[in-house]
Amino acid sequence: LCFLSVFLICESHFGAYMPVVIGIVGSVHSKVQDLECQTSPGLYTCTDFDQIPFVASLVVFHTVEEINNSQFLPGIKLGYLMCDACVYGTKALDCVERMLAVNGPPTLLPDYSNFTSPIKALLGERIVYSYCQTPQSLHDSPDKLHFYCTSTNYAMRRSFVLFQTVDLTEAYGQRMAVYAITHAIKKLLKCDDTSCSKDTNFLPWKLISILRNMKFTVDDQTYYFNKDGDFENGYDLIMWKKNGDERILDVVGQYLISNNNVNVYDLMV
Ligand SMILES: *[C@@H]1O[C@H](CO)[C@@H](O)[C@H](O)[C@H]1NC(C)=O
Ligand SMILES: *[C@@H]1O[C@H](CO)[C@@H](O)[C@H](O)[C@H]1NC(C)=O
Repeated sequence: LCFLSVFLICESHFGAYMPVVIGIVGSVHSKVQDLECQTSPGLYTCTDFDQIPFVASLVVFHTVEEINNSQFLPGIKLGYLMCDACVYGTKALDCVERMLAVNGPPTLLPDYSNFTSPIKALLGERIVYSYCQTPQSLHDSPDKLHFYCTSTNYAMRRSFVLFQTVDLTEAYGQRMAVYAITHAIKKLLKCDDTSCSKDTNFLPWKLISILRNMKFTVDDQTYYFNKDGDFENGYDLIMWKKNGDERILDVVGQYLISNNNVNVYDLMV
């Protein structure tokens, strides 16, 4: 699984015309092995499989499949491609490059305005990442060097404290994001009840202006983005906590824009 996770293609179905693919950068492993010792380019080996974010990614797959199997985008096939970032920033960038290049070498273009790929949107994850400190002085003993690299190997991971199970806010946020993207696709491809434009090779950036100012409904809740593309419903209030070698992010409240209110969940602070 570790090696597979370097580039996990979970599912992709290419039919008569190009499906619209949503890229997912998630982390089902929480550590990259022996990173401190790596001195040359190579594949990342991820360890510490984490079943909770794995379940959260299943929520995303399920949402894409749910939309694909409904008549929401008539005649359009949706797909997804997931790459494991292993809670590591550089690996996440590597994921994006590989996904956009569809497994080929990343292409360098002088101008990306006409760049297109089957992946029309990328879903990221909430990770804050801190760098391994470099030793202050070259006179540090090898022992100390080792200490620097292991003790500061903080990966600040998403918090799943709520019920010690899948963080429902996070999973729901991902579900909402998939819906936001597909609503924008629906508008771009001018879908009606029976069909959509077959121009599925559109330029991905065209979705951005549509996402701005968009209002849509998921599970009877209305969501909207403003003209700057900011989410208008509200934001999670997050607290950093230390957890052994790691720092985790706890969702401890909510800021609701509609009534300008901050709600803090008492039990968690
Ligand atoms: C999307 O639907 C098509 C049938 O229209 C099916 O062949 C394909 O497997 C589905 N893909 C996903 C990701 O569910
Ligand atoms: C992008 O494509 C359009 C239309 O095909 C063309 O007019 C334009 O010059 C292209 N831009 C670049 C940077 O290649």
